Amino acid sequence: MDWGMQNRLAGIINPRTGRCLMLAIDHGYFQGPTSGLERPGQAVAPLLPHADALMLSRGVLRSVIDPANRTPIVLRVSGGTSVLKDDLSDEEITVSLEDAVRLNAACLATSIFVGSAHERQTLAGLSRLCDEGQRFGIPVLAVTAVGKEMARDARYLGLACRIAAELGAHVVKTYYCDDFERVVGGCPAPIVIAGGKKIEEREALRIAHRAVSSGAVGVDMGRNIFQSQWPVPMIRAVRSIVQEGRSDADAWDLFRQLTA
Ligand code: R5P
Repeated sequence: MDWGMQNRLAGIINPRTGRCLMLAIDHGYFQGPTSGLERPGQAVAPLLPHADALMLSRGVLRSVIDPANRTPIVLRVSGGTSVLKDDLSDEEITVSLEDAVRLNAACLATSIFVGSAHERQTLAGLSRLCDEGQRFGIPVLAVTAVGKEMARDARYLGLACRIAAELGAHVVKTYYCDDFERVVGGCPAPIVIAGGKKIEEREALRIAHRAVSSGAVGVDMGRNIFQSQWPVPMIRAVRSIVQEGRSDADAWDLFRQLTA
């Protein structure tokens, strides 16, 4: 791996801890003004100091993030669908490498839809993105999107993660599930978990802890942070698990102290 690629990855996954707390605010690329992100600039400002990396689309990056920002940017570069369609898998790469370089992206993010109607198209998109990222020394994060008809279990997620890594993804983002060690064990690339739909803070902390205990390098979490009534205490509690090695019980205590 060349210097630029290693340097960009080290900005996302802390080389000292081997861990990463990525904040995801890219949901609008197919959901529009997602609850909690109607004004993304206001939502993200107090959270950014606690994130190792920020995942978002180029439109939101350009319009609300100060160019003086030092947090590495994980740029969402796929899209082409909306929540108005039943089938969300019909995505393609929507950002040129030239623009990603111009935006100083530290990583490129695309979704793959294994088992969907557009499986081949999204896997070919990932492969091309890895080739292009390689030319510029920019790593690629593959998001294992799960269609309604797919089970979020270790068999399916393990398959999708392994395929993403085999095709060249440098980091894979997936969902936590039972038997998660099997998913991590079968994937040669580091794994981060998405938080998924908003759930109780206590439960989201438990899942974050189980994921890193099972071998994930961290989280790429969105709604369970920015849709919380207490987003800053929540990101700090998640951070205490991911970067400080605290238990979920300790993180919950921290959350309660910060919200008291
Ligand atoms: C989904 O397509 C987006 O990539 C989100 O960034 C991802 O789902 C992570 O956010 P959340 O923790 O809200 O699931």
